[in-house]
Amino acid sequence: MWKELAEFHVDLGGPEHRLARGWKTEWRRFVRGHIGRTDRLCLVAEVDGVPVGFLLAAILTRPKVFERWPYGHIYDAFVEGAHRNRGVGESLVNAALEWCRARRVDRVELYTHARNDLGMRFWQRMGFETTVHILDRRI
Ligand SMILES: CC(C)(COP(=O)(O)OP(=O)(O)OC[C@H]1O[C@@H](n2cnc3c(N)ncnc32)[C@H](O)[C@@H]1OP(=O)(O)O)[C@@H](O)C(=O)NCCC(=O)NCCS
Repeated sequence: MWKELAEFHVDLGGPEHRLARGWKTEWRRFVRGHIGRTDRLCLVAEVDGVPVGFLLAAILTRPKVFERWPYGHIYDAFVEGAHRNRGVGESLVNAALEWCRARRVDRVELYTHARNDLGMRFWQRMGFETTVHILDRRI
């Protein structure tokens, strides 16, 4: 599923999103680091025991010069094409928000590609709004 999400981003965002050789090993390490920890989250959505979506998140911290420093970060959310628009994505996001609230975190952020209209509409529907523009340029 994550490979599909990555390939979707190559189509949207170009070569920066292409997977490196050996990406699976790195990816497994990253995901495993999100299992069984109190400050990281790996959710899998199942339909009839079959995985159809996932969400990865963590509690991160801003520099302590700020009054409010812990925040939730959603890295990835994905639902397989055949299972979309049935509330699976919403369930994953709601579970992640609940997990953050239980850790007294009251703000959650995420990145979505500026050309990902589908993702943007979903996140807006989930109550997220744009607060930061990340700019880049070729040099
Ligand atoms: C974005 C994604 C996770 C949504 O998952 P999903 O299971 O289809 O979402 P849900 O069925 O839970 O939809 C929740 C709400 O968002 C709305 N929604 C979902 N996709 C939408 C879209 N493309 N445009 C407008 N609204 C959308 C649904 O209508 C629903 O609203 P409702 O409660 O008023 O009916 C899924 O489409 C996906 O994996 N997309 C490709 C990867 C991606 O873009 N990931 C997010 C960015 S990293």
